[in-house]
Amino acid sequence: MISSAPIISARGLSHWFEDGLKRNQVLHDLTLDIFPGEIVLITGPSGSGKSTLLKLIGAQRAVQHGELHVNGHSLNSASPRELVGIRRGIGVIFQSHHLLKSLTVCQNVQMPLSHDPRHSAASSRAAALALLERVGLREHAHKLPAQMSGGQNQRVAIARALVANPRIVLADEPTASLDKNTGREAVELLQNLARDSGVTIVLVTHDNRILDVADRILSLEDGRLVDQRQCRR
Ligand SMILES: Nc1ncnc2c1ncn2[C@@H]1O[C@H](COP(=O)(O)OP(=O)(O)O)[C@@H](O)[C@H]1O
Ligand SMILES: [Mg+2]
Repeated sequence: MISSAPIISARGLSHWFEDGLKRNQVLHDLTLDIFPGEIVLITGPSGSGKSTLLKLIGAQRAVQHGELHVNGHSLNSASPRELVGIRRGIGVIFQSHHLLKSLTVCQNVQMPLSHDPRHSAASSRAAALALLERVGLREHAHKLPAQMSGGQNQRVAIARALVANPRIVLADEPTASLDKNTGREAVELLQNLARDSGVTIVLVTHDNRILDVADRILSLEDGRLVDQRQCRR
């Protein structure tokens, strides 16, 4: 692979939460680089700061200390308007699928395109159907999430995360509410789609059964980066 500039870069990143009068440090001086097209897994015990790190990368939380660059933007100095643009370049997948119950599968996948001036209703529907085809759910496009299984809905969520052609997808424990086989299938699907389109994936998990999809595994403990393992491609 040609060496290239990192798409995500943190330098001395620290974060605190207020707890009454106490200030708890949950991330300690993290320095890391993630490169375009990489699939990076972040593991670590519950409470080690994984979700907080992911929310900082996703511009969902303000950087308090240290430097964070994502997709060519500094998150330290970004205006609220820039932050909106940065978030648009990032697809997100949560533990449970977070689909809207009253919308069809297709409408859910279209959601990230709804405020995009480059898309009309027809073009966003076409983009959503194309993605649903790729996740094997084209024929379920008209259904409501309640008519689908958990694994199918997580595949819909994967389609939604990718529909706007993001350069980065962030996934927080995406297999946690799925059984072993379904979870594995969902992650392999995400891996294949990412490989096809060169998307960078940062995936938080403590599911040991999916670690092998990673190019690199970062381990967090008490908010500190304790290990970085390069894996085979
Ligand atoms: N919104 C919040 N307010 C206060 N403390 C929080 C908040 N979110 C997370 N924390 C605390 O920060 C630490 C790290 O949490 P988190 O990033 O969710 O860890 P993980 O995802 O690894 O389980 C935990 O001690 C948690 O209780
Ligand atoms: Mg978490």
